[in-house]
Amino acid sequence: MTFVEGPVRVSVPATSANLGPGFDSLGLALGLRDHLEAEVVADGLSIEVTGAGAEQLPRDERHLVVRAMRAAFTEMGARPPGLRLSCGNVVPHARGLGSSSAAIVGGLVLARALVAGGSLLLDDDALFRLAATLEGHPDNVAPALFGGFVISGRQDEAFFAVPSAVDPRVGVVVFVPPDLVSTRTARTLLPAQVPHADAAADAGRAALLVAALAGQPEHLFLATRDYLHQGYRRTAMPASLELVERLRAERVPAVISGAGPTVLAFSEASEAPTTRRLLARAPQGWTAHHLAVDVEGARVLA
Ligand code: HSE
Repeated sequence: MTFVEGPVRVSVPATSANLGPGFDSLGLALGLRDHLEAEVVADGLSIEVTGAGAEQLPRDERHLVVRAMRAAFTEMGARPPGLRLSCGNVVPHARGLGSSSAAIVGGLVLARALVAGGSLLLDDDALFRLAATLEGHPDNVAPALFGGFVISGRQDEAFFAVPSAVDPRVGVVVFVPPDLVSTRTARTLLPAQVPHADAAADAGRAALLVAALAGQPEHLFLATRDYLHQGYRRTAMPASLELVERLRAERVPAVISGAGPTVLAFSEASEAPTTRRLLARAPQGWTAHHLAVDVEGARVLA
């Protein structure tokens, strides 16, 4: 087993899961990227973190990028003597924009790039399965790895991911609140069962969302109605639900991004007046960003 000489650099996008009716199955990669750099060194582990979460993140084996790198090295049968890691975090943490998936996918792709011939030992499908296993659900890691819009899920013990088209006219505005909500907390708020009528309505909207994103964006408002999770999570993110409701009252296709509390509104890819008006709707203390759909996913930088 040999390692490549010098540092490797990887960039990995933010992602938004659920998109309304696609709970735990639909995810979209967004034009906001973390940058990671790693190098195999003679011994030890050194970690430098700047940007989002820099004050809170551990600088040892508990660091999520390191855990993902270790998992990939184990899968490839590689044992680096030491590691140097540097993380430039841009994706906000605990906001429903896929920061943990970016860390996991970024770590796996970094480790693979550090091993000579790594792509032969760990192809994209194997890397995706490892990422989904580490994350526990595939809906963020799939678009973080493959880019674009991905339909994913679990069949028994296996995960699947199927990329689907996105109309190039589609962009998004994300409204990021100052408060954090952990995915774990948000998941504890979900009921064990839902009414059959809600499940049926949600399935219809999820199917419509695939068609709307693929080339009929005029249906995005209808297609983004959720019946399975947003309402149940209101107590963890009341201001986010209020913003979703205010925007939807004006027929803006707004949803909670992932497990929240960020709000995502579909808009146009261009800086159209409608997009500028949307950006101005951020409540006080929140930030709003107009983002493109990322079509590349995780990539190793030259
Ligand atoms: N589908 C997951 C949830 C997304 O809503 O709990 C977490 O990022």
